[in-house]
Amino acid sequence: MSAPDFEPRHLDTVKPSSARIYLHMITGEVIYEADLPFINQLYTAIPFYPKWARHNRAFLGRAVRHMASHGIRQFLDIGSGLPAGGNTHEVARELITDPRVVYVDNDEEAVNRARELLTRHQLGDTTAMVDADLRRPARILEHPETRRLLDFTQPIGLLLISVLPWITDEDDPAAVLTQLRNVMPPGSQIAMTHVSLEDAGPEIRSQVAAGASVFAEASTPVTLRTRRQFASFFDGWTLTEPGITYATDWHADNPTDIDADDDARRCNFAATATLS
Ligand SMILES: C[S@@+](CC[C@H](N)C(=O)[O-])C[C@H]1O[C@@H](n2cnc3c(N)ncnc32)[C@H](O)[C@@H]1O
Repeated sequence: MSAPDFEPRHLDTVKPSSARIYLHMITGEVIYEADLPFINQLYTAIPFYPKWARHNRAFLGRAVRHMASHGIRQFLDIGSGLPAGGNTHEVARELITDPRVVYVDNDEEAVNRARELLTRHQLGDTTAMVDADLRRPARILEHPETRRLLDFTQPIGLLLISVLPWITDEDDPAAVLTQLRNVMPPGSQIAMTHVSLEDAGPEIRSQVAAGASVFAEASTPVTLRTRRQFASFFDGWTLTEPGITYATDWHADNPTDIDADDDARRCNFAATATLS
């Protein structure tokens, strides 16, 4: 086997990472045995977590298809996570030839695995994995790989799928989003999801609160936000139909699949918007 032509980042395998946990919830894969006690604690606290994660991931796919079908040919996917199937470049390729995709994550394993995947599939001409932090958007925007692949005179699909809950209010998400929006060309689109308890019933509320405290103790703290706070993240953008809804419900492939009795679906807000 030939050596990879990228330099793997140092891995912190001691602290459970949101990226590894999320991958596990979608695929069942355990990357480090050391994560298992934490994963089991989360299963106990939030039994619906795997379903939530798969619904969130499915929204990502529908949002990318929606953007691609509206002429978007390049994507900036921040908090992209570990490659899990249905990655942005794969979904976009269903509809367009050679989409440009810049992935960004601050998780070592996500960076290493995505680089390995992109190298293995020889996708370096059209895709890149940038090791950067959403809290420092200038570093993302000025990164040589971002500048190499994205044309800031043409519409960009900006994806922030379930990454803002990992940004605290002290990190000033509004300022982060303003910096990103200010460089997006007209016609760009944004897609975001965000965990929330606002519409959830008491049982789901207590489960999510228990899960959030598991994260706070062992990993990165999660910030839950209200519908109004989530809506404010779209300031300066125009929401597309149907506005803010649940990830499951947003342009559902088959509306009859939406389970109105599934209270858990009400704890993940989703929306897309355009920039004029
Ligand atoms: C729940 S996963 C979502 C993955 C993917 N966006 C999806 O929806 O399928 C959240 C991801 O955000 C990343 N993340 C968390 N905080 C971040 C930050 N400050 N900057 C960049 N990435 C971050 C985590 O490492 C993780 O990969």
